[in-house]
Amino acid sequence: MLKAENLKKIYHMGDVVVPAVNDVYLEVEPGEIMCIMGKSGSGKSTLLHILGLIDSPTSGKVYFKNQDVSKFSESKRAKIRLAQMGFVFQEYALLPELTALENVYLPARMLGRWPSEYEERAVTLLESIGLIERMHHHPRELSGGQQQRVAIARAMVNKPEIIFADEPTANLDSTSGKQVMQALTWLNKQFGTTILFVSHDADDQKYANRVVHLYDGRLSESAGEEYNA
Ligand SMILES: Nc1ncnc2c1ncn2[C@@H]1O[C@H](COP(=O)(O)OP(=O)(O)O)[C@@H](O)[C@H]1O
Ligand SMILES: [Mg+2]
Repeated sequence: MLKAENLKKIYHMGDVVVPAVNDVYLEVEPGEIMCIMGKSGSGKSTLLHILGLIDSPTSGKVYFKNQDVSKFSESKRAKIRLAQMGFVFQEYALLPELTALENVYLPARMLGRWPSEYEERAVTLLESIGLIERMHHHPRELSGGQQQRVAIARAMVNKPEIIFADEPTANLDSTSGKQVMQALTWLNKQFGTTILFVSHDADDQKYANRVVHLYDGRLSESAGEEYNA
């Protein structure tokens, strides 16, 4: 599904060289829920953005469905992001002037789909994650957990093959966070959508089929001490 080879992302801050992602090899299998666990500043967002084709690595390769997407033009990468990938961010990133339902429509409209192709699906998605009564509300009228579930429905509207989630529960209380992770795992079971999420909260490991750990931009399969404690 998704493969990274020898990925590096180097930032230069004056004279200081920051290897945000360093020699990362990674393979995500279709249908799995994979978690990348790491402390703040370990490179999780940088790595997720590179894998989700939002950002480009300094060196190394990303393969999506066996295609070397590092070579693709930006417009081709944008099309893959919109049609085959879904994104969930820590801060929800909903448009405030649109209702929940209209926010869910958005990626389908951007792809130029006909309303008949997405309207019913959008409602069904909101219903399946417990938001049918809120679908005509604006983001400011929704709790953080509800907004994040709208963002998840939005990420699903174009039937993506993979969802990337960047600390989806970091701004939420534990009950809302649990509902958000349950919504993601339910969608994975229901539609077989592959999920790659990153987190700094060791409790989130239980939602994943596989967990890898990031330390200063380097990946390791085995759990570190702070997570075993
Ligand atoms: N645009 C940038 N310019 C310079 N340094 C950056 C930039 N983005 C991230 N970094 C640095 O790269 C490292 C990894 O950041 P990030 O991927 O945001 O980590 P995480 O998501 O795990 O908190 C940090 O040291 C951060 O300061
Ligand atoms: Mg981050």
